[in-house]
Amino acid sequence: MILVTGGAGFIGSNFVLDWVGLTGEPLVNLDKLTYAGNLENLASLKGDPRHVFIRGDINDAGLVNGILTGYRPWAIVHFAAESHVDRSIHAPDDFIKTNINGTFNLLSQALAYWQGLDADEKAAFRFLHISTDEVYGSLGSDDHPFTEVSPYAPNSPYSASKASSDHLVRAFYHTYGLPALITNCSNNYGPYQFPEKLIPLVILNAIEGTSLPIYGDGQNVRDWLYVSDHCEALRTVLAKGAPGQTYNIGGNNERTNLEIVHAVCGLLDELCPSQGVGRYSSLITHVKDRPGHDRRYAIDSSKIQRQLGWRPVEGLESGLRKTLMWYLDHMDWVKNIKTRAYQDWIEINYGAMEE
Ligand code: NAD
Ligand code: DAU
Repeated sequence: MILVTGGAGFIGSNFVLDWVGLTGEPLVNLDKLTYAGNLENLASLKGDPRHVFIRGDINDAGLVNGILTGYRPWAIVHFAAESHVDRSIHAPDDFIKTNINGTFNLLSQALAYWQGLDADEKAAFRFLHISTDEVYGSLGSDDHPFTEVSPYAPNSPYSASKASSDHLVRAFYHTYGLPALITNCSNNYGPYQFPEKLIPLVILNAIEGTSLPIYGDGQNVRDWLYVSDHCEALRTVLAKGAPGQTYNIGGNNERTNLEIVHAVCGLLDELCPSQGVGRYSSLITHVKDRPGHDRRYAIDSSKIQRQLGWRPVEGLESGLRKTLMWYLDHMDWVKNIKTRAYQDWIEINYGAMEE
């Protein structure tokens, strides 16, 4: 039995589905079901005793303690977070509450539980903290990609909150010996991603024939990682990673935002030709830049490749094609996501942005 936090979000639900499907091992999924959590992602596990869902907050000490002592997991895989950079710019409070205070509470409860285990269980226990390449700040075009020893230089309220949580995890290992590991990964894409993030936003706007907003000049670079490659990396780190270590996980797919959006448009032209707008790329619109927008992220994942034998297998073209097909085949999921709250967010973030 393992405990997953945030398992109804994008990466968490992909991880839960893969975990149950590939290992068959049961898990408890603790998720607050914020706007980003969606039980529809896990509909295929309905009634499956291997998936125990508990709605709750990682800040709730009594609840977390009860889950740990009641289910006795050998690992905690910690995804729960506020994850969207733009929202952290508009309203950072929840990022502090969940990403910093919530992680601190989870660590404190995990430590108390771990200290009560017998020697074998203690040695086998793992606390796996899922973090981001954004903690390392921004790269210049000629800089070497981020390694595990790159200095921390977070630039947004989101990345600052994730950096804080990384430091707490590290401190719990060094001070108390809690067998914790950290992974820092690059931009994920794939099924079930909430359409506030670039790739699903562009897919859904294009299908609706509305503009495709590119912040600034569109030359910012991200390193795209297909979500199932990420989930495989996490299972590998759980199985073979050394406590106290950090592992960087990337997709070897550096692209500018404009390149990504053109690739999505090209695939849509092929898979779902537009009746009204001609080529989808004609919808691309440059809008005001994100404040403090990091220019480039890139991951050097040679440590996890060399030491643990993981490497990404999905190519960007094939991964984008799978992602697009998934959204086209799940328009009911999309319809249910597009709530009043989602429309409000689009208005808050893009309302006054066109240049
Ligand atoms: P997401 O926003 O899609 O999902 C977050 C999940 O956490 C949701 O299900 C939400 O309900 C839950 N949650 C939020 N606050 C909670 C709380 N207080 N208690 C319990 N549950 C809570 O996020 P994601 O994109 O799946 O990211 C998962 C993790 O991976 C995050 O920690 C994020 O920082 C990290 N990460 C994401 C990416 C990416 O590209 N998406 C890249 C690097 C790292
Ligand atoms: O690098 C890992 C991070 O990737 C994760 O830690 C975050 O949780 C995740 O949200 C993601 O952050 P980004 O800010 O890189 O992702 P996003 O999809 O929001 O934006 C990707 C790039 O596209 C970024 O340079 C901003 C740009 N962008 C984004 C949106 C939503 C646009 O140009 N237009 C948009 O409308």
